[in-house]
Amino acid sequence: MPKPVIGGVPRGEDLFGREELIENLWERLERDNVLLVAPRRFGKTGIMYHLLDYPQEGFRPIFINVEHILTAGDFMVELMAILLRDHHFARAVSSLWQGTKGFGRFLQNLPSSIDLGGIKVELREKTDVPEKWISYGERVMSLLSKEEPRLLLLLDEFAVMIDSISKRDSEEAKRLLHWFRSARIAPDTGTRFVIGGSINLISTLDAMRLVDTVNDLSVERLQPFALETAAAYVKAIFASRDIDLDSELADSILELVGEPVPYFLAVLLMAILDRQRAIGSPISADTIKAAFEEDLLGGATSVVFQHYRSRIDQYYPGREAQVARAILGMLSRAGRPVQHDTLYHIFLQTYRKPPSPQANDEFIQLMKKLDNDFYIVSRDGAYDFFSRVLKLWWKTHYGFQGE
Ligand SMILES: Nc1ncnc2c1ncn2[C@@H]1O[C@H](COP(=O)(O)OP(=O)(O)OP(=O)(O)O)[C@@H](O)[C@H]1O
Ligand SMILES: [Mg+2]
Repeated sequence: MPKPVIGGVPRGEDLFGREELIENLWERLERDNVLLVAPRRFGKTGIMYHLLDYPQEGFRPIFINVEHILTAGDFMVELMAILLRDHHFARAVSSLWQGTKGFGRFLQNLPSSIDLGGIKVELREKTDVPEKWISYGERVMSLLSKEEPRLLLLLDEFAVMIDSISKRDSEEAKRLLHWFRSARIAPDTGTRFVIGGSINLISTLDAMRLVDTVNDLSVERLQPFALETAAAYVKAIFASRDIDLDSELADSILELVGEPVPYFLAVLLMAILDRQRAIGSPISADTIKAAFEEDLLGGATSVVFQHYRSRIDQYYPGREAQVARAILGMLSRAGRPVQHDTLYHIFLQTYRKPPSPQANDEFIQLMKKLDNDFYIVSRDGAYDFFSRVLKLWWKTHYGFQGE
C-alpha cells in the first residue's frame, strides 16, 4: 500500500497511479525520444525513477540530474563518469582512452573504492574532456549506439542546465543542443533519451530561437492525477492507516484541492493524518478544513507556490512579466472564469497599447504561454486559474496589490 511521500521522490508502490503513462512511455521509447514536461511537483522525477528502477527488457537506464551543471564540458564529464561506473557500458567507454598513459592507465587499475566524484576529478584533471567535449560526445554516442541492452539516458531538469549555460555563453548552449540533437537523430542508434524538466524547454529555447534543436522530441505534458486516480489515492492512503473515511469527507478533500496536483494532495492528506493523530478522534470536516487552510495554504507548500510566482519574472521577458502578473492578479480575485475581453482590456492597459489586430495576437500568445505553463485554463472563451489551491494562495498574497 502506498504511503504519502512529501517532497521526496516517490518510488516503488509510493508512486501512485502512473501505470498507464509509464506503459505508454516505454512504447514510445521503442522509436522516439521523450520530453517530459510539467510544473514543479507533478511527479516527473518519480516517473523517471520508475523507468530507472523497473526498466523494460532491452533497455539499460542511467539517470542524471543536470540541474547544477553550468558548462557543456561539465555535462560531458558527468556523463562520462557515470557511464564509466556502469558495469555494462564501462568497457565501451574506456576504449576511448585505450593505450593512453594517464587516464587509460588509471582506468585499467580503477580501484573499486573510487566513487563517482573521484572519477569526475580524474576526468577533469587528467583528460581533455572539458575542452573537447563535443568530440568526446560524438565518439561516445557512436560507440554506444549499437549496445545491447540499449542505453536509456534519463536527464532531469535539462532546461535549467541549458538556461544556466546560455546565460554564461549562449554559443556554448547552442553547440550543446546541436550535438545533442545529432546524437538523437543518428540513423540506427539504439540509444534513447527522456528529458525532464519543470521549466518549459520549448519556451526557453523559443526565446533563444533554438526551438528547432528539439523538434524531434515526442512531448509528454504530464497532467495532474485524473479525478478517479485522485479518489483512489485518497482511499489508499487512508486504508494504509486502517482508516475507513466517509465518502462525503473524501469528496470534500478533492473539492478543496481542485485540480489534483499529486504533491498538493499528498501534503493535505498527510496534514489531515497528523492532525487526526494529535487529536485522537475520527476525522471531521473541521479537521479537513483546518488542514487545508493552515497546512496546505499556509505551510511548507508555499515554496512551490512561490516558485510559480518567481518563474514569471525569470521566464517572461521584459514587460510580459508585468502583464502576466496583472492578468493572474485579476483572475485570482475573480469568483468565476473571466471573459477574454476583460483580460484583453487589462493587457492593453498594462502595456499602454491601443487595441489592434497585432496587440490581440500578442495577447493570445501570452494566454497560450500561461496555459502551457499550467497557470491558467480556458473554457468557452473564458479563463481561470488552473489550480484552485494556487489561485487561493495567489489571491491571499498578491491579489490585492493592484497588479
Ligand atoms: N505518482 C505520485 N504518487 C504519489 N505522490 C506523488 C506522485 N507524483 C508526485 N507526488 C508528490 O509530489 C512530490 C514531488 O514528486 P516528484 O519529485 O516526482 O515531482 P517533480 O515533478 O519531479 O517535482 P520538481 O519539479 O520539484 O522536481 C512527491 O514528494 C509527492 O508528494
Ligand atoms: Mg523533479
